[in-house]
Amino acid sequence: MAAARLVFLGPPGSGKGTQATQISEFCGVPHISTGAILRSSVAQGTELGKKAQFYMDAGELVPDELILGLIRERLGADDTQSGWILDGFPRNVEQANFLDVLLQEMDQPCDCVVNLDVPDEVVVSRMLLRGEQEGRADDNQATIRNRLEVYRQQTEPLIAFYRNRQQLVSVDGNQPVDLVTEELKKIVHG
Ligand code: AP5
Ligand code: MG
Repeated sequence: MAAARLVFLGPPGSGKGTQATQISEFCGVPHISTGAILRSSVAQGTELGKKAQFYMDAGELVPDELILGLIRERLGADDTQSGWILDGFPRNVEQANFLDVLLQEMDQPCDCVVNLDVPDEVVVSRMLLRGEQEGRADDNQATIRNRLEVYRQQTEPLIAFYRNRQQLVSVDGNQPVDLVTEELKKIVHG
C-alpha cells in the first residue's frame, strides 16, 4: 500500500488516534502515538510514566525533555523505513522544530500534516462519553477543559506553522468515522 509520512494534528478528542489506526493499517506503516506510549509507561510504572503522570492528569503537556528523546528513539526503530504516522506529536513549536531537524537527519521528509477540524462542543462530548465508557483518566470535565486550553495556547499555532509551508491539509473531522477515513485515504493516495 501507499507509503506515508504523516502528522495528525487536531484538538483532543478530534479522532487522531481513531483515524491514525485506520490509515496506519491501510498504508502498512507504524502508528506512533506519544499519548499511547505515555499511558503505557504510566500503566507499567516506568520512570517515564512516574514523571509523566502528574502532567497528564492535569491536562498539561509533558515536558519536552521527556518527549523529544522518546520520539528520536521511536522514529529511529527498524519499522519506520517506509513511513510512519505521528499522532499527538508535535504538540508545540519547539517539538515541531525538533521534528524538522530529526527528519532532515533521517532524510525522511513529512508528506503532509493532516488537521482534523472538530468543534469544541463535539470533542468535549466525545471525551466525556469515553470517560464514562472506558475510564481514561484524563477524560473528566476539569482535565478536558485544561487540555483544550493547552491545545489553544500551544498546539493550535502549528496549524499556521504548517499552512505557511503548504504542508497542511484540513479535514472535517465532525463526520462519521468511516467518512473521515475515506477522505484521509484519498489524501494519502495523492
Ligand atoms: P493524547 O493521548 O495525545 O490525547 P489528546 O490529544 O488529548 O487526544 P485524544 O487521544 O483524547 O483524542 P484523539 O484526537 O486521539 O481522538 P480519539 O480518536 O481518541 O495526549 C494525552 C496526554 O499525554 C496529553 O494531555 C499530555 O499530557 C501527554 N502528551 C501526549 N503527547 C504529548 C506530546 N507530544 N508532548 C507533551 N505531552 C504529550 O477519539 C476520541 C473519542 O471520540 C473516542 O472515544 C472515539 O471513539 C470517538 N470518535 C473518534 N472519531 C469520531 C467520529 N468521527 N465520530 C464520533 N466519535 C468519534
Ligand atoms: Mg489519541
